[in-house]
Amino acid sequence: MKPFYIRNIAIDPPLILSPMAGVTDYTFRRLIKRRGGVGLVVSEFISVEGLTRNNPKSKRQMRFDEEERPFAVQIFGGQAPRMAMGAEMAQEVGADILDVNCGCPAPKVVKNGGGSGLLRDLPRLEEILKEIKKSITIPLTLKLRTGYSDASINVVEAAKMAEQCGVEHIQVHGRTREQGYKGLANWDLIRQVKQAVSVPVSGNGDITTIEYGLKHWREAGTDGILIGRGAMQNPWIFRQIKDVLDGREPYYPDLAEKKSVLLEFFSSCREEMPEIVALGKMKQLAGQFTKGLPGGAQFRQTLYHSHSANEILDSITTYFENLLAGNRYGDGLIEADVPALDSCDAFQKLNSVTNKNAAVLG
Ligand SMILES: Cc1cc2nc3c(=O)[nH]c(=O)nc-3n(C[C@H](O)[C@H](O)[C@H](O)COP(=O)(O)O)c2cc1C
Repeated sequence: MKPFYIRNIAIDPPLILSPMAGVTDYTFRRLIKRRGGVGLVVSEFISVEGLTRNNPKSKRQMRFDEEERPFAVQIFGGQAPRMAMGAEMAQEVGADILDVNCGCPAPKVVKNGGGSGLLRDLPRLEEILKEIKKSITIPLTLKLRTGYSDASINVVEAAKMAEQCGVEHIQVHGRTREQGYKGLANWDLIRQVKQAVSVPVSGNGDITTIEYGLKHWREAGTDGILIGRGAMQNPWIFRQIKDVLDGREPYYPDLAEKKSVLLEFFSSCREEMPEIVALGKMKQLAGQFTKGLPGGAQFRQTLYHSHSANEILDSITTYFENLLAGNRYGDGLIEADVPALDSCDAFQKLNSVTNKNAAVLG
């Protein structure tokens, strides 16, 4: 498993932070990149309707820092001319790679022909890819699901067509649109894509441990892998996989480091966004991050009912101080299930709850 190239861009190590709407923004990407082991980061998916209509939120989503390079902007939409315009705007802001979303299952995205809706309409996807190719010189990449439904698995056909259109890296999340986030990703289909095309292919789905990641990566024989939710639970997962690839013992942070990373994240959120949004983000990350830690469930309950930054900071300090001192926190239990964060509009929902709370709070 060695670095691979998207044209002349080295993906080194071949480990990619998978795009997640409402999660992989400027703040989160840097947090992950700084932990090491990440060869490529991708923006959240950005609406070309928003971009080309000068929506400030969509434009803000393209912001990135030099330390993030190589950096890919991911766009979504169903209309070729607008996708081409959005792609051009991403190139203008200096993105290294332009990625097209062909996987989001959210009804409002699919209804407009974008995201995984494109899997039911390969001629439209082909038109979009060809139009984008005419408008940019940076490499074009594609992120696919395996098909729209179990009855219409067409990822190999889509990948071959994309390669013909000049797509230079194909990423496959091994689930269908119909599956949403249920069941497990089908890594055998990912293997079939790798065998069918000659451009680099990366596989994606359910990697939350080093062992699971390496096993499926090896079996599928892909050039790289993408990790999404696993990075929220464990921001060091990329570094740990790289350690193993390099023949070292994987790095495991201690509790003090975990606490300081959570605080680092919160402090950059507060610098970058309105307090209410920062609170939502903090709850989101802390919820995933404390999976597997003693008393994590109780800690999350406390967090979810916090209404100010200070309350959250106090809760974090108390929680980690208890753990560091070897004390019990809450019921002291280690639970297996953390509230699922499992869709490309999950965070928007979380935000709308937070905003409702804000309205109640006045
Ligand atoms: C909250 C959330 C938001 C997501 N948003 C996007 C997105 O904007 N673009 C995209 O291509 N995939 C998106 N995905 C899918 C992930 O990139 C990834 O393909 C999927 O979660 C499977 O990988 P994992 O098991 O490593 O998380 C999202 C997933 C989640 C959980």
